[in-house]
Formats: sequence, structure tokens, C-alpha cells
Amino acid sequence: MRPHVVGQGTHREDTVFMRTQVAIIGAGPAGLLLGQLLTNAGIDNVVLELRSADYVLSRVRAGVLEEGMAGMLDEAGAGRRMRAEGLPHDGFDLAFDGGHHRIDLHGLSGGKRVMVYGQTEVTHDLMEKRRDTGGLSVYEAVNVQPHDFDGPNPYVTYDKHGTSHRIDCDFVAGCDGFHGVSRRSVPDSAITAYERVYPFGWLGILAEIPPVSHELIYANHPRGFALCSMRSMTRSRYYVQCPLDDRVEDWSDDRFWDEIRRRLPADVAERMVTGPSFEKSIAPLRSFVAEPMRFGRLFLAGDAAHIVPPTGAKGLNLAASDVRYLFDGLREYYADGSSAGIDDYSRRALARVWKAERFSWWMTNTLHRFPDQGAFGQKIQEAELNYLVSSRAASTSLAENYVGLPY
Ligand code: APR
Ligand code: PHB
Repeated sequence: MRPHVVGQGTHREDTVFMRTQVAIIGAGPAGLLLGQLLTNAGIDNVVLELRSADYVLSRVRAGVLEEGMAGMLDEAGAGRRMRAEGLPHDGFDLAFDGGHHRIDLHGLSGGKRVMVYGQTEVTHDLMEKRRDTGGLSVYEAVNVQPHDFDGPNPYVTYDKHGTSHRIDCDFVAGCDGFHGVSRRSVPDSAITAYERVYPFGWLGILAEIPPVSHELIYANHPRGFALCSMRSMTRSRYYVQCPLDDRVEDWSDDRFWDEIRRRLPADVAERMVTGPSFEKSIAPLRSFVAEPMRFGRLFLAGDAAHIVPPTGAKGLNLAASDVRYLFDGLREYYADGSSAGIDDYSRRALARVWKAERFSWWMTNTLHRFPDQGAFGQKIQEAELNYLVSSRAASTSLAENYVGLPY
């Protein structure tokens, strides 16, 4: 192990100095999961987060965990509530042309399932675990900036309550999401970005009502895509595809319920229970990958390196697989002095990222109505859906990707 000094910082010229092994930027699921695995392995780390803990917990995100992600929460020691309260799902429905067809995830994937458990809860559980195990998190850290990561002595600076801080470290993990500072700190010439922006958004609501079905329903309808999801058996999460320039204020609850009912098969619409929403927001859809994911001693993980559209719920799960590879590499480095794992991090992570990008892009294309789709595109989409539900090979491919490709 490399020597390190942690704890109380030293003061010099109005800057508080500290040292850690891994400085983690961002306290979303990627940063917190990495931090907890490192802490459990005895590798010192500090998490720096721009927002307050309450703000981080107020963000509503997707909630379908692959088995790999659920297993990592267990490994972090933060899986107890997920195992007690999460809902294991063995399948979901594809609805189109007035009917619905079940995709038997469990049967088609050789016995795998997904866990429906909100990302907000995942973040909450990881925060609690970090507190219990004495991990240092600095919330409301402003002007966070990684420095000198192309050399042997990187450090991160930030300000908090008007005081400047500097953390010297061995490595920096950029887990600060799509808009974070880590990726932006890398010179443009060292990074290649690949992007697709979709010409619509998702309007999502949360309501304290029982879900219309005990499994998720993904619907393709001439009026646009719709998704019936849930957070528990008393809390529903529903979405409809909407134009990008729609505003949340234009969508009363009544308008939302009318619209989603029209996009679902009649039997589903009839049994849908409605009620007041307590959260409503519109999110754009984007595919994005930055390559590579390592720049000297700076590693990008999660949304800092890649974004998927939410169709298929891969965002959180990709953050987890990045953390898997990065944690294994760092552990190997500190335990054996070998840099083989961290040297291979970007290649391994990107190989899995691109497969999930392909799947999310494909699912988005298959289930949404595109403004420029045309009659030919429409016919191809119908053929794709019919093929999916009539061919075991096609359904198996969908199930294999949905439950999560191996790490
Ligand atoms: N300094 C410090 N923290 C920052 C900065 C910054 N300059 N910029 C952003 N952050 C923080 C954000 O406030 C956020 O809490 O980094 C965190 C990034 O978390 P997420 O956006 O949740 O990204 P990630 O942890 O990679 O999770 C990936 O979870 O949030 C979803 O859509 C995301 O599903 C995807 C998955
Ligand atoms: C959600 O529950 O928010 C959710 C579920 C599945 C998706 C996307 C979002 O594909």
C-alpha cells in the first residue's frame, strides 16, 4: 500500500490541505458505489459533490436494476433494503396494435430477473452506508477542479463556505454526470465524442396509486410511446413520449391520464387507477459516449462518460459496470502493485457501454414514433415488433440485453 495521511487537513495560506488515495467527484450512484467498495477494501477516498444531499435525493430517475448492479449493492453492504422492499420482475409486456405480448425475461434468459427499486432509494442506501462506515463526503463543494492528472501527482481543488481546499491523491474518479467538470477538464484533442439527440422527450409522473400491472408495459402507439412502471405496489411511475418543446405546465394531470390511456390497449386503459401526481417532469433523450474513459490518473465513470436514452433503463446499470471494472483495477493496484486492471479499464468498460448503447438506441427506435419516420419506417417498425414477439430468437436477444449482458 502507498503511504497516505488522511483526516484533519493542514492549513497553509488560507488553503486546507488533505491527502487521500482516490478523490471521487460526484455523489450520484457511480461515485457512492465506487466510494463504498473502496472503503470496504481499506482504500481511502473522499467524495466531493456540488449539490446538497437533499438535492441529490430529490432527483427522480429510473429504477430497474440488473442482477449485476443488485449484487454490487450487496457487495457494498447497502443491499438490505433493496432485497426487502425491491420488486423482482420476471418479465414485461410489449404493447402495440391494440394487443400486448409478454416477454418472459426469466424463461428466455436462463433464469435471470431484474429488480425494480428506485435509483433515489439506491442513492439513499449508499449515503447511509457511507455515513455508517465513516466515509468522508463533502456536499456543496463548489469550483471542484481536478489538476495534473496526466502526471504522477494529481490533486483536486474546491471551495466550501469561502475556504479553499486541496486534496492530493493517487487517482481521480470523475463520477460527476454528463454536465460535470471531469470530462470538461480533458483537452478536446484527447477525447472523441459520439452523440445522437432524439427529436422528442419523455414526460414522466409519479403518483401514489397502484400500478396498472404487476409488470412493466412498454407501448408503441400511433400517438407515441408510453411506459407504465412503478416504484412499489402503491406508487406508479408512468411516462408518455412528448414533443421536446412541451412544457410541464401544459400537462395537467387530467391531460396526462387521458393521453396515456389512449396509448395503451383497451383492457389496460380500463383498469388504470388514476390520482394526483406529486412529481412531473420532461426529460430529453440522448445517446452519448466519450472515448477513452481514462486520461492518465483520471478515470470517467457513469454518466460523466456516457448517456443512454431511458428506454431499457440502462443508465444506472452502466454506471455499475464501470464501477465494477474500475474498482477491480484499483483494488489490484493497491493490493499487488499491478496496473494491469486500471490500464485495461477504458477498453473493458467501453466494450460493455457500446453494447448497452446499441440496445437502448434500438429499443428507442422500435418503440417511439419519429417525426420523420414516413410510411416505410412505420412498416419496418411494425415488422420489427411482430418479429420480436413471434420469434424466440428475437425475444431471447431482447431478454438477454434487458436483464443485462455479463460484466
Ligand atoms: N462537482 C462536483 N459534483 C458534481 C459536479 C461538479 N462540478 N457536477 C455534477 N456533480 C454531481 C451531480 O450533482 C450528481 O450528484 O455529480 C453527480 C453525478 O451523478 P449522476 O448524474 O446521478 O450520475 P451517475 O452517478 O453516473 O449515475 C448514472 O444514474 O443519475 C443517473 O441518469 C443517470 O441513470 C444514470 C445513472
Ligand atoms: C422507471 O421506472 O422510471 C423506468 C423503468 C423502465 C425504463 C425507464 C424508466 O425503461
